[in-house]
Amino acid sequence: MPRTVYVNGAFVDENEARVSVFDRAFLFADAVYEVSAVIAGRLVDNDAHLARLRRSLGELGMSMPCTEAELIDIQRELVTRNHLDEGALYLQVSRGAADRDFRFPRDATPTLVMFTQARALIDDPVAARGLSVITVPDMRWKRRDIKTVALLPASMARTQAADAGVDDAWMVEDGKVTEGSSNNAHIVTADRCIVTRHLGSEILHGITRAAVLELSRREGIEVHERPFSVDEAMSASEAFVTSATAFVCPVVRIDGRAIGDGSPGPISRRLRELYIEMARASAN
Ligand code: PDD
Repeated sequence: MPRTVYVNGAFVDENEARVSVFDRAFLFADAVYEVSAVIAGRLVDNDAHLARLRRSLGELGMSMPCTEAELIDIQRELVTRNHLDEGALYLQVSRGAADRDFRFPRDATPTLVMFTQARALIDDPVAARGLSVITVPDMRWKRRDIKTVALLPASMARTQAADAGVDDAWMVEDGKVTEGSSNNAHIVTADRCIVTRHLGSEILHGITRAAVLELSRREGIEVHERPFSVDEAMSASEAFVTSATAFVCPVVRIDGRAIGDGSPGPISRRLRELYIEMARASAN
C-alpha cells in the first residue's frame, strides 16, 4: 500500500510526491528535520520536538513554514490518513528552492515535507537483546546541536557498523564519546550513576535524553553530565542509547568487548519501561 505523504500544502500518494532539484536540501543539505515517535496513533513528546525545530530553524536564519498549531494538524492528519498505529513521523523543512548560490536566498519559500514509517517501537526485538556498537572517529561538523540533514558522516558510520556485523557506531572525538550515529549515548557506573555527555554544540540535544534523565533523577539515580572515554564506557556496568524511536535501548558490546555481563542491564531495562509508560500516558 503506497503511503500518503505531505509536500508543501498537499497530501499526495508517495509515488506522486515531488520536490524541485533546486531545493536547497538537495543541493546544500540546507534543511532541518525532526522525528517524532507515534504510539497508539498519538505523537510522543511532540511539543519538545517542535520547540527544537523552531530553534534549529532560528539558528540557520529560517522561519517556521506555518504556525505550530498548523504543523500539529498536518502531523495528525498524516497519521490518520496512513492509519499509523506505531512508528515514526518524519518532518523536514528546507530553505526552499532557489537558483544555486552559496549565499542564502532572501525570498525562497520553505519546503515542508512529512512522511510516516510504520514500525514496532515498543516490542522491538533489538531492545530485548541489546545493541552491539563499534566506535568511529566523529567526523561531523561543529554544530551538532542543530538538527540538520547533514547526515553523511552519520550514514557512513552506521554503514561501517553494519559492514562490521554490529548494530551501530558510537562517535569519538579527542578520546571521548560524543553520541551514537542517530541517538545519544549513556553509561552506568559501578555505583549506579548515569554518565552522559553534557549539552553543548558537540551533540544533539536529544528530546528523549532529557526525558530519560528526568525519569532517572526521579528514580533516585544520580546523573553526571560530562564527557566519558571509550575506556570508561568499556568498563562501565551498563550502557544504553536514547532516541525518539529507540526509546531507551541497552548497548551490550562496544568494539567487541562485553559491557557488564554482556546482556541488557537492570537500569537500562527499568528506564526503558519507565519511558514507555510515560510515552503511552502523554502521547497526544
Ligand atoms: N535521530 N543524536 C543524534 C545524532 C540523532 O540523530 C538523534 C535522533 C538523537 C536523539 O534525539 P531525540 O531523542 O530527540 O530523537 C541524538 C532521529 C531519531 C533520526 O534521525 O531518525
